[in-house]
This record gives sequence, structure tokens and C-alpha cells, in this order.
Amino acid sequence: MIWLVFFSFILKLISAFNGEDIFVLCPTQDTQFPTKNNNSSTDQYNPYYYPYPWWPNSYIPRYKSNQFCKWTVVIPDRTFINFTMIADIADDSALMITDSNGNQENIMTSDLQPYVFVGNKFTINLIVGANGNSTKFGFVVQWSPFPTPNPVFYHVNKTSPALFFDEMLYENSVTITAETRATIVAFPSTYPDFTPLLRITLVFDGPDLNSPYLGTLFQALRSNKPMVSNSKQMTVFTFQENYIVGSNFVVQDYYNVQSLSATKGVTCWSDTSCPVTLNAAKGPVSAMTLNPDDGKQYVKQLALSPNSVLKIYNGARREGDDSNLITTYNCEQSKTSIPQKFYGTIVTYYLANGTALVELAEDSNFTRWNDASDGRQGFISSRRYGKLDFFQDVKEEIGGLDSNQTFSFEINVIRLDVSNSAELVISFKNATGEDVHKFSKENNYQSRVFQGIGRNMTVQYNSNGEETSGFYLHFKIEAHNGCPGNYFTMTAFLLLFLPLLY
Ligand SMILES: *[C@@H]1O[C@H](CO)[C@@H](O)[C@H](O)[C@H]1NC(C)=O
Ligand SMILES: *[C@@H]1O[C@H](CO)[C@@H](O)[C@H](O)[C@H]1NC(C)=O
Ligand SMILES: *[C@@H]1O[C@H](CO)[C@@H](O)[C@H](O)[C@H]1NC(C)=O
Ligand SMILES: *[C@@H]1O[C@H](CO)[C@@H](O)[C@H](O)[C@H]1NC(C)=O
Ligand SMILES: *[C@@H]1O[C@H](CO)[C@@H](O)[C@H](O)[C@H]1NC(C)=O
Ligand SMILES: *[C@@H]1O[C@H](CO)[C@@H](O)[C@H](O)[C@H]1NC(C)=O
Ligand SMILES: *[C@@H]1O[C@H](CO)[C@@H](O)[C@H](O)[C@H]1NC(C)=O
Ligand SMILES: *[C@@H]1O[C@H](CO)[C@@H](O)[C@H](O)[C@H]1NC(C)=O
Ligand SMILES: *[C@@H]1O[C@H](CO)[C@@H](O)[C@H](O)[C@H]1NC(C)=O
Ligand SMILES: *[C@@H]1O[C@H](CO)[C@@H](O)[C@H](O)[C@H]1NC(C)=O
Repeated sequence: MIWLVFFSFILKLISAFNGEDIFVLCPTQDTQFPTKNNNSSTDQYNPYYYPYPWWPNSYIPRYKSNQFCKWTVVIPDRTFINFTMIADIADDSALMITDSNGNQENIMTSDLQPYVFVGNKFTINLIVGANGNSTKFGFVVQWSPFPTPNPVFYHVNKTSPALFFDEMLYENSVTITAETRATIVAFPSTYPDFTPLLRITLVFDGPDLNSPYLGTLFQALRSNKPMVSNSKQMTVFTFQENYIVGSNFVVQDYYNVQSLSATKGVTCWSDTSCPVTLNAAKGPVSAMTLNPDDGKQYVKQLALSPNSVLKIYNGARREGDDSNLITTYNCEQSKTSIPQKFYGTIVTYYLANGTALVELAEDSNFTRWNDASDGRQGFISSRRYGKLDFFQDVKEEIGGLDSNQTFSFEINVIRLDVSNSAELVISFKNATGEDVHKFSKENNYQSRVFQGIGRNMTVQYNSNGEETSGFYLHFKIEAHNGCPGNYFTMTAFLLLFLPLLY
């Protein structure tokens, strides 16, 4: 990061000094390099600049019109390439960089962001059009021997939960052994500007860096498909030691994603909304969020096409196993049972058919999760509901904005673990009083379906330091004094996004 900022700064200085224009005439024949000392001499580790010597000389290389330039960069065994460029490609021109697997990236601009290449070669193709003389392009290729990995090893199988990695700051290499094959979903950086740094985290098909190269996390993210190993093992290696930003990814056994036609990692970090579209026209699709910080998120709005069903899982979805399914929505429920809060380091949205637009958010005020309204339904669960865990405690409050509003809250406690000293307390408050329902080991046999009237409802679960499987309750709110519900935002949302669904 510091590196990036520093070089951008230098670049700005250079631009400022850009006195004369030099128009480059590039080699018309495929230029292969290095042509000697492929892997024997230290010479190979001298950086290659094109055009030479644009760097560190103070000019930005511009190109003569109507040219086709091609460079093939040879990558010797056990060597990687650190590639950086400045690029500003005119509208009628094109710059394509292709890795050893034939995966191509079209580049419009670059400001010395790092790329890493492995395999036997990569190619650079530049087409300068008729009006392309405003195209600017210069690059540096640097060969280095593979760094020493600091590896960690994990296993996944058909039934195990997915593994998640929210940074790789203490180890640069993660090797996962799967029961069938390993598959990875990549997530955008929490700071959008840093997402291109996923280019310097590479995925290999096997136990280490010498295994076949599958691609970068950036490619995994862009493809909207799970990246899958051919062997049982996969290694994720990051070159981002000089950067503060981590690589976020989830690994599962391929068995659990084999039926998906698309999947994507979604990072929703701001207090604005994050719209996620799911289209199952070509088969089931899923989206995953990773919330390692606070382990929660909200669905603010939801629009589903008729007859489609959205399934939401705490954790990754497993084929033929709905034990971590938290809830499902059909079209009707999407109107009454949103906003909704979800706990889970990983939350998976799965759609088998039709289309869905899920608007995610991180901020409870913004989603109005805490606001009661007539006709609203939903659920409240403990943090790691369904799993034996110490971290189950929650406190939720849902109520009217005005002090004179009164609601009727219908509660159905569907699952509850009050073993040891765990407690669930549900209370309803008015200016005039408080109505408290307390469940504990000693007081566990009262009705779990009841109603409370008040301005607000508070739900609090304390496991008091013990391992429990938590609780799950359903609620339904009705205006007690005929106060109108607020469906304005829902209507506006549907009108806005309805065209996307058909
Ligand atoms: C360097 O590698 C390239 C591609 O593998 C090859 O064509 C070339 O002959 C090699 N040069 C030497 C000196 O080995
Ligand atoms: C390059 O390395 C390979 C194996 O690592 C070796 O067989 C070959 O002789 C080396 N080439 C040169 C030019 O040293
Ligand atoms: C770029 O090309 C256009 C059209 O060919 C020409 O009019 C213009 O003078 C050129 N600019 C430079 C800086 O050469
Ligand atoms: C799958 O992995 C879990 C741990 O994540 C382990 O407890 C279980 O025994 C494994 N099952 C098989 C069949 O290997
Ligand atoms: C790439 O090159 C830049 C500039 O020399 C350096 O700061 C950076 O650490 C290099 N990255 C890797 C992965 O070697
Ligand atoms: C979607 O799947 C469900 C059950 O699998 C089915 O009932 C429904 O009709 C399907 N909807 C569409 C639009 O295909
Ligand atoms: C939500 O609103 C309340 C009251 O206006 C405020 O105290 C709280 O800080 C807000 N929370 C967030 C996350 O903005
Ligand atoms: C509730 O109080 C607000 C002001 O606090 C007032 O504007 C509103 O009319 C009141 N509503 C009812 C139903 O009394
Ligand atoms: C809940 O209602 C009570 C009684 O009206 C009130 O004192 C309290 O402030 C309310 N809580 C919130 C968070 O609005
Ligand atoms: C709140 O007030 C309503 C009527 O105004 C009453 O029916 C209800 O019991 C009160 N709730 C509590 C918790 O005192």
C-alpha cells in the first residue's frame, strides 16, 4: 500500500515534468525475452523496461498510431514475475495481458498496480488505433525466484463447514486437502480500491507453488464461478507481504458446489446498501458474504420473481444438507418478513430457480431493523444458533419511533436451549409498565407462544459463559392502535428494481 502511494506520487512528479512527447514505434514481431540466461545467471533477475529507458527517466511513453505490438515474457522454472505498468489506452486502442493459462485481461488504465505471473510465459498485446496516438504505455518486468513459503495446511470434506480466510498476514501459503476436489470463492477487498491487489494472490492445483497454476484470486472473483482444483489439493499463495490488505476467500469441498451455475463473494462494508442479483436461469446460483468482524448483516429489501424460493444459510451451503438453513423466502414472505438481521461469519444466499434481488446492508439504522411496523414479521436468533457454542448472546430491541405508538407482538419461540445457566428474557415496554417473560432451566415450561402489547419488545439471550445451541424465535407485529405501517420504501424499491427481474 505504502509502495503504491509512493509510486503514484513519483508518477505525478513525472507527469508534471513531462516536457517533450516521445512517440514509440514498437516491435512489430513477437518479442520474446529473456533470450539468454533463462535460469542460470543472476542476469535474468535484472528488470526489463519497455520502452527503454523510460524508467526512471522522466517521460511517459506515448505510441505512434496504427501499430500492433506483442511481447512474450518467458518465465523460467521456479521463478515468478513481478509486472508493473503505466497505461492509459485510447478508445480505439486495446491492451491485453494473457497469463500462461490463456486467461486474458483487457486493461484501460494502470498506475503501477502490481501483477504477478507464473507458469512458462505471459503475453502482452497492444493495438494502437488510428487515433491512438494518445495511448501511453510503459512496463517493467522483474524476475525473482519463488519466495520461501510459510505454509499452513487444512482439510475440507463433504460434511465439514467451509473454511474462511480473511487475511494471510501470518502465513503466505495455505494448502487445503479436500475429500473430492477443493474449490474457492474470492471476495472483494473491504476497501474497493484494493481489490486489484487480489491479482497477487495465486491459486495452484496441488500441494505447493510448483503445482500447476490455476489463476489469481482476482480472476476467481471476476469469473463468478467457483475456482476448482483438478487434484484433491489446492494451494493459495500470496505475494502481498508488503501490503496491509488481506485476501478474503472461502474454501469448500467441490461436492458442495458442483450443482451451482454461478457463485459470487460479496463484501458489504459501508452504511449504504449492497444490491446482489441472483439469476438461476442456467441453474442454481449462490452468493456468499463474509463478516468476520462483527458476524452480522441485514437484508434491507428483497424482491423475488414469482414461484422462486430464496434459501439463506448460516455458513456455506452443503449439498443435500439443510441443517444450517436459517430461513427461506418466497415472493409473499419477501414482502412481510424484511428487514431481517442475520448472524454468521459466512452467510449464503441460494436460489434454485427464478431471479432474486437481495439488498444487503451492514447498518441496522439504515435497514430499519429496529423499527416496528404494522404487518411486519421476522425472526430473532442467537449468534451461532444451532451450533454448540459459547458465543450465543444477543440483545435486540424492536419498537415504535413515536412514544405514543403501541404494537401487539406475537412471539413463537421455536427452538430454545436454556441448559446450564442460559436465559432468554423477552419483555414488552410501555410508559405504563413492563411485561417480562423469562425462560431458564428452572422456568422452562411456560408457553412458548404468547403475545405482548407495548411500544417496544426486547429480546435478550445470555448463555452466561456456557456452551449452548442458542435460540430461534419468530415474531409478528401488528399495530395496536391502528397506527399505519410504513410500506413506502418497499413500494419504491419494487418499482425501481422490478424491471431487472423480468
Ligand atoms: C529460454 O527459454 C525460451 C523459452 O523456453 C527458449 O526458447 C530459449 O531457447 C531459452 N534460452 C536459453 C538460452 O536457454
Ligand atoms: C534451467 O534449469 C533447468 C532445470 O531447472 C536445467 O535443466 C537447465 O539446464 C537450466 N538451463 C540453463 C541455461 O542453465
Ligand atoms: C494524433 O493523431 C491525430 C490524427 O491522426 C493528429 O491529428 C494529431 O496531430 C496527432 N497528435 C500528435 C501529438 O501527434
Ligand atoms: C470431515 O471433517 C470434519 C472436521 O471438519 C471431521 O470431524 C470429520 O471426521 C471429517 N469427516 C470425514 C468423513 O473425513
Ligand atoms: C514488485 O516490485 C516492486 C518494486 O520493485 C516491489 O516493491 C514489490 O515488493 C515487488 N513485489 C513482489 C511480490 O516482489
Ligand atoms: C422453482 O422450484 C420449486 C421447487 O423446486 C417449484 O415449486 C417452482 O415451481 C419452481 N419455479 C419456477 C419458476 O420454476
Ligand atoms: C442508530 O441511531 C441511534 C439513534 O439515532 C444512534 O444512537 C446510533 O448510533 C445509530 N447507530 C448507527 C450504527 O449509526
Ligand atoms: C404521537 O405523537 C406525535 C408527537 O410526538 C404526534 O405528532 C402524533 O400525532 C401522535 N400520534 C397519535 C396517534 O397520537
Ligand atoms: C421502549 O419503550 C419504553 C416505554 O415507552 C421507553 O421508555 C424506552 O425508551 C423505549 N426504548 C427505546 C429504545 O425506544
Ligand atoms: C401498554 O399499553 C396498552 C394500552 O395502552 C396495554 O394494553 C398494555 O398492557 C401495556 N403494556 C404494558 C407492558 O404495560
